Amino acid sequence: MKNIVILISGGGSNMAAIVRTSLRDDWARRFGAKVVAVVSNKATAGGLDFARAQGLAAEVVEHKAFADAADPRAAFDAQLAQVIDRYEPALLVLAGFMRILTPGFVERYAGRMVNIHPSLLPAFAGLDTYQRALDAGCCFAGATVHQVTAELDHGPILGQAVVPVLPGDTAQTLAARVLTQEHLLYPRVIADLLQKI
Ligand code: GAR
Repeated sequence: MKNIVILISGGGSNMAAIVRTSLRDDWARRFGAKVVAVVSNKATAGGLDFARAQGLAAEVVEHKAFADAADPRAAFDAQLAQVIDRYEPALLVLAGFMRILTPGFVERYAGRMVNIHPSLLPAFAGLDTYQRALDAGCCFAGATVHQVTAELDHGPILGQAVVPVLPGDTAQTLAARVLTQEHLLYPRVIADLLQKI
């Protein structure tokens, strides 16, 4: 079985979309794959309740717990990797995981870690993507699924979804339109990937 581990920091709506699609489309039979665990860097992440309700392992590795370490980021990533590796993932899926990862962590999961970013990369890497798209006068916005590499939001693109920017849009209305498409895009790209790994 190809185990999938999903990392979240918040509501986890993309994670829920992936889990639901994996069950509906029977990824276990079709691809020999299943989501086995959801890991959050915040104990309060809403997505953890969904994961538990689905009978998935729901793990928390609080990044704040490593604030006093000599190298907090490296210490957090080392603990995170230890928890993740218990589930022997064939694929590590970042779904609203709002932490910058160390090069060592990225190297460890090279070729089997993907992320979703709420812009049409390479435009608007980083934060505040919706407001930046509005400020730039973009006619279109969207989301990108990409392989994770050492450079933030810059790995090879695996799929994109495009939405129009509409008159009167705010960052909130645009975000909601993009998120709806993310829920379709991410499971589709992962399903494609599972046929190749
Ligand atoms: C999604 O819009 C995702 O693209 C974005 O966070 C949201 C998480 O929503 N990710 C990033 O900004 C990563 N840089 P969710 O928790 O409901 O899936």
